[in-house]
Amino acid sequence: MFGKVGTRGLVASVAAIGLLAAGCGSGSEGEASAEDGDGGGAVRVGFSQLGAESGWRTANTESVQASLTAENGIDLTFVDAQQKQENQIRALRDFVSQDMDVIAFSPVIETGWDQVLQEIKDAGIPVVLVDRTVETTVEDPFVTWIGSDFRAEGVTAGEWVAENHPDANIFELQGTMGSGAQVDRQEGFREIVGDQVIGEASGNFTRAEGRTATEAALQAYPDLDLIFAHNDDMGLGAIEAIEAAGMTPGEDIIIVTVDAVKDGLQALVDGKFNYVVECNPVFGDQLAELITKVHAGEEVPEETYVEESAFDQTITQEFVDERPY
Ligand code: AHR
Repeated sequence: MFGKVGTRGLVASVAAIGLLAAGCGSGSEGEASAEDGDGGGAVRVGFSQLGAESGWRTANTESVQASLTAENGIDLTFVDAQQKQENQIRALRDFVSQDMDVIAFSPVIETGWDQVLQEIKDAGIPVVLVDRTVETTVEDPFVTWIGSDFRAEGVTAGEWVAENHPDANIFELQGTMGSGAQVDRQEGFREIVGDQVIGEASGNFTRAEGRTATEAALQAYPDLDLIFAHNDDMGLGAIEAIEAAGMTPGEDIIIVTVDAVKDGLQALVDGKFNYVVECNPVFGDQLAELITKVHAGEEVPEETYVEESAFDQTITQEFVDERPY
């Protein structure tokens, strides 16, 4: 198996991977351990989260930390990389030097992992890939992956646009360039409505950069009438920019986003977003189960896709109020 996730339904086994004996965890800056002491036989997991850039990421971190717990037999060391690949690589190397039982990480971008993945492999520590994907020449770089079908999310957004706004001039507000979420959402979306895209810029998955990029786009493309934002946060930044320019989001400029966090769905109910494709961040329980099986040498699927949906303006305020994240 090489690098990029892409084929559904395969099964992987960690039987051939030498699992290391549990040892004592150590703390460093930015780390939080779910359990004090020696872990009491729990599976010692080092998790490198890529950052805290969005509402989605906050919900994902909460889900991971709520499930990778001592009660579930896991001694978690969690490190936030603040959207910097060098921080993630440093954390992964720390996990190797701490002889973690399992290393899990959500890679900020797809490339640049060859060396550290080889080091982890040489140390015999199984890798569980979370959320985003990697492109690597290392053979069998991870045992299992769990996350979203980003390409399908882009296709779903594109199909809604094709059906409802086939003549719109589209500005694409992209996520972190080179991330699996950006690359695949763009590919899926453009497969359907690529000929309608008149401009693009990255908002790095943040509200602030989404606003800045939209301000520039409104100047550069006065005829744009639809924004496809790769996440809710950038779409919320776009709302601010559109309103500051004296226009009405959702009417003068149609907004389509991905994620469906509470703030995004509220914008949909308020008529400021027009369509939201869900990207589900709540898979901590599934991740905990995968990690436990990987550590035990049991068979796990090579890929696990979380369940997702899509929403238009017919959702109710009650639905948004009940949204847990
Ligand atoms: O990788 C998932 C994406 O990352 C989410 O769509 C986005 O909000 C987050 O920053």
